[in-house]
Amino acid sequence: MRTHYCGEVTEALLDDTVTVCGWAHRRRDHGGIIFVDLRDREGLLQVVFDPDEAAAFELADGVRNEFVLRATGRVRRRPTGTENPALATGAVELYATDLEILNRAKTPPFQLDDHDVGEDVRLRHRYVDLRRPEMLERLRTRARLTAAARSYLDANGFLDIETPMLTRATPEGARDFLVPSRIHQGEFYALPQSPQLFKQLLMMSGMDRYYQVTRCFRDEDLRADRQPEFTQLDIETSFLDEDGIMGHMEAMIRGVFAEVMDVALPEPFPRMSYAEAVERFGIDRPDLRIPLELVEVADLVAGVEFQVFAAPAADPKGRVAALRVPGGGSLTRKAIDGYTDFVGRYGAKGLAYVKVNDPAKGRDGLQSPILKFLPDEAVAGILERTGAEAGDLVFFGADKAKVVNDALGALRVRLGHDLDLVESGWRPLWVVDFPMFEYDEDDKRLYALHHPFTSPRVSDPAELEGQDPEALLSRAYDMVLNGTEIGGGSIRIHRPEMQWRIFELLGIGEAEAREKFGFLLDALEYGAPPHGGIAFGLDRLAMLMTGSHSIRDVMAFPKTQTATCLLTEAPAAVEEAQLRELGLRIRRTVAREGQ
Ligand code: AMO
Ligand code: AMP
Repeated sequence: MRTHYCGEVTEALLDDTVTVCGWAHRRRDHGGIIFVDLRDREGLLQVVFDPDEAAAFELADGVRNEFVLRATGRVRRRPTGTENPALATGAVELYATDLEILNRAKTPPFQLDDHDVGEDVRLRHRYVDLRRPEMLERLRTRARLTAAARSYLDANGFLDIETPMLTRATPEGARDFLVPSRIHQGEFYALPQSPQLFKQLLMMSGMDRYYQVTRCFRDEDLRADRQPEFTQLDIETSFLDEDGIMGHMEAMIRGVFAEVMDVALPEPFPRMSYAEAVERFGIDRPDLRIPLELVEVADLVAGVEFQVFAAPAADPKGRVAALRVPGGGSLTRKAIDGYTDFVGRYGAKGLAYVKVNDPAKGRDGLQSPILKFLPDEAVAGILERTGAEAGDLVFFGADKAKVVNDALGALRVRLGHDLDLVESGWRPLWVVDFPMFEYDEDDKRLYALHHPFTSPRVSDPAELEGQDPEALLSRAYDMVLNGTEIGGGSIRIHRPEMQWRIFELLGIGEAEAREKFGFLLDALEYGAPPHGGIAFGLDRLAMLMTGSHSIRDVMAFPKTQTATCLLTEAPAAVEEAQLRELGLRIRRTVAREGQ
């Protein structure tokens, strides 16, 4: 139907006759001459219709935005002064001799170059929304990212192997999506939260190196970087230790960035322990582009009269931390109140601060509602440790360590953006030395920080005896990029005795372990090699690489924040007959609650 893509028609084709197909992006009538910007996947081409070519001209007169056209003509240079250097085709135009209207189009629900369209409208008419050049570019970048990762893995002996979608629950910590079985009424498949157990089984089968670009399903609260179905680049290896796996994964990601973005990432990626990340940034996925850090000051305020500080300073689970904001002295009262509300969302009961006008003057050079509660030594110590200078402001968080870390960690990122302190560039980081377990105050039990198949640092279960489980470290690692966790993995447990012991520490009894993971426990008995792997969030990587604010922008057909698809209107009710076939009945009383 065509000889060239619109975007390919450049000066190299001057005087050639070409045929192009695409959508009428814009149509302009210039007193007797009609211009149509024809758009296809590869770009825009200006097509000129002259009354001398009467048939084509007449048809062009009826063309409206988004009509689908096929045009044939001669490529000619645009008149001097009318070139468009912003377009690859901007030096030329197509002088049309033939036009065919392949299809008409209703007026689109929004203009493609209107950037204030609500996301709901865009998602409902996603096929139109995806015509926007920027959306197309994002999907193209995503495709190139996947291709570059596959090419590294293919070249390094990883086999692409598929694993089931209809399976049993896999414990990644979210709620499962369930699929009722017709043949086995009353029983359900779960959609995989990840291929974790299958990829471990593949290592036990001797596949040695596996990968898969695969959909995962998690019924959890959605955010900008979380969707109920998302894509993992999932990887597992045998007979490699942490350094071996991390080395490969770094090389792969460096390759992806070099190929897709022409960006050289550092070699090697820096590594930081979980403890250091939380201490300095309040979070285990620090954005290293933001030059602000939390500083511990509990020891400086331990004995002071001000109970807001003294109590958490004396509490082993408490923390008192300071966050120096360079130039923050100019923050208004209103701005500080805004930040106080902001940290309140993370459970902080207040946001004490000290404005530093002139540190050389000691107390007199400071301005703060809490100054009167703090002795001179404490004030001097805080100034020294934070390195505060004239014009700065120091914020404080004092509470349980978790509250302080969550609140100041989030405030640090918020301030970095608000005050324009975010440095440019790419700052990858491995976070390592994670704790094995996290104690849940509400449930009064331990949870695995990664998942229950992650290996502890010790290889013999006997070495776990008498140890405080909360102090145990695992062999897990996360890859973080500019404050987003793009991947996480670990060395797995490959000995059944250790797996049983870890289940026990997690309060998973023998009957439950057999019922849920019997197949894995059996497989571990038949010669499981040492193995480990990782999974990358492909959507998150694509989001970062395209500079998007949400993973919805790098998914062709995403769900809304309330997990619906506005295009197909899923989820939807089903026929009574279908339910009967599945042996299901809807309990109307609870059906609509919380929606
Ligand atoms: P994890 O649960 O850390 O590990 O997931 C791996 C990566 O997947 C991405 N991710 C998500 N992306 C979008 N929406 C979501 N709801 C979502 N949840 C997770 C993140 C994350 O780093 N089986 C283990 C991996 C392993 O141990 O090999 C796992 O699934 O970028
Ligand atoms: P108050 O004594 O409650 O009036 O608090 C005095 C100052 O300490 C105010 O600036 C509060 O915002 C701040 N503040 C109160 N609780 C905390 C807290 N847990 N962490 C940090 N600052 C706090």
